[in-house]
Amino acid sequence: MSTPTADPSSAECIPVLDFGGQTAQLICRRVREAGVFSKLVAPSISAPALAAMKPAGIILSGGPASVYEPDAPTCDPAIFDLGVPVLGICYGLQLAAHLLGGRVTPGKHREFGRAALTIDRPGELWKGVPATTTVWMSHGDQVASTGDLFVPIASTPTCPNAAVTSNARGRRFFGVQFHPEVTHTPHGTDILRNFVYEVCRCRGEWRMADFANVAAQRARDLIGSAHVICGLSGGVDSSVVAALLHKAIGSQLHCVFVDTGLLRRGERDLVESTFRDHFRIDLHVVDAEAEFLSDLAGVTEPQEKRKRIGKRFIDVFKAKAGSIPNATMLAQGTLYPDVIESGHGHSGKAAGIKLHHNVGGLPAQLGFKLVEPLRDLFKDEVRKLGGVLGLPDHLIWRHPFPGPGLAVRVLGEVTKAKLELLRAADEILLEEIVAADLYRKTSQVFAVLLPVQSVGVMGDGRTYESTVALRAVESEDFMTADWSRIPYDVLARVSNRIINEVRGVNRVVYDISSKPPSTIEWE
Ligand code: XMP
Repeated sequence: MSTPTADPSSAECIPVLDFGGQTAQLICRRVREAGVFSKLVAPSISAPALAAMKPAGIILSGGPASVYEPDAPTCDPAIFDLGVPVLGICYGLQLAAHLLGGRVTPGKHREFGRAALTIDRPGELWKGVPATTTVWMSHGDQVASTGDLFVPIASTPTCPNAAVTSNARGRRFFGVQFHPEVTHTPHGTDILRNFVYEVCRCRGEWRMADFANVAAQRARDLIGSAHVICGLSGGVDSSVVAALLHKAIGSQLHCVFVDTGLLRRGERDLVESTFRDHFRIDLHVVDAEAEFLSDLAGVTEPQEKRKRIGKRFIDVFKAKAGSIPNATMLAQGTLYPDVIESGHGHSGKAAGIKLHHNVGGLPAQLGFKLVEPLRDLFKDEVRKLGGVLGLPDHLIWRHPFPGPGLAVRVLGEVTKAKLELLRAADEILLEEIVAADLYRKTSQVFAVLLPVQSVGVMGDGRTYESTVALRAVESEDFMTADWSRIPYDVLARVSNRIINEVRGVNRVVYDISSKPPSTIEWE
């Protein structure tokens, strides 16, 4: 977890205490979008530590617990007496009521989904919000009695304390039972902006360029005089980490790019020209094609391919890393969704949904300390940061590419000849997708070489050659995906060019399966 120190170049900050709600980071993001720096902090943070951040306001997030459970997460009650406005959202509201002498009980009616909110008392929080509006609820408990602690300011038919405020003993507290951070609350952004500007009186000067400075400073503080290794994959996350750390520590950064021989055409050139030629980063390219291909010889089972590639990758990386003097730290492009999906949020309470496969246990195996400067960001924020750091657009907007590379797109045994064929077909597909202005409208587009030979006719002769499948999907998070409705004329051009230009292919098919039940990759 990042230490909650003051952020030097950002005078204004609104920290969010993370009680484990799936949307906790979304609150930070909305505040950042409003122009004020925000980040998650552990709920156990002490009031003095929080005060040291010089916050303009404090937000308490939602969370899955009930305040009256014995091990429910709590916070230092002195937070309410720091003289800084506090906004409690859902669990955050209930916790404030619980700690300050109100009563929280299981509601007679649970509310999940949209609810009609009526504003009963006008005030700063409601500027620009209609008197009745839709809000998104997700709660079983609610604040049953506020005593003389809070004044109700909005209600729904089943939740009389849907929003409250307090001025008691100089406390500036607002609480909302609903979730203003989600898009299902149409005026949620207005409500959060009102908290930021009308209540906390922020100036709103924070921009992504500031984040680059703040994150670089934080990285410098953490790294000191150590040397850092950054594994570059050619994808956006590791590229942004490299550019950011280069800004932070210059020649103390050493990038390692492993050419597995399983890459797309031009991938290695792109990495070399961007990082070595443009940024002048110390880049080590390890040519390990022969080792990877020899490991894969005769292997057809997809999981076995992955296992061998993963093991070889660690061996190659380890050998290279060991040869770089003084390197004791490893940089990784872990993003916030990776953190939360692995159940490693600040609260330790978010439900673990999947274990992230990029992390791969490398630091533990290599004995490195980790630097993860993108842990607080969402993917689109990482892209913005990449732009601020001067990375080229075609790198920032790259579709994801799997770690095992083309090995999982050459179905069956992987050979150099098959890889060459697939690279040629894949390059044509991508050229046509870019030419048709479809690259940014699709999430992932690639070719797959099937272990299927079929009969064709070319000129006067019979052919018996390979089949290439085209895959194009649209997806928000790659957990689910739909196949892209690529226009027929684009598919026709791709098919025609592949069959004419790639020796050994006489048939092209288009994959029209969604995920689930299919996966995006074929292996
Ligand atoms: P699937 O095929 O599971 O893919 O629908 C979902 C997303 O993950 C990528 N993928 C991988 N990425 N190592 C990776 O780094 C892997 O082993 C791997 N397998 C799939 C895939 O390209 C898609 O974006």
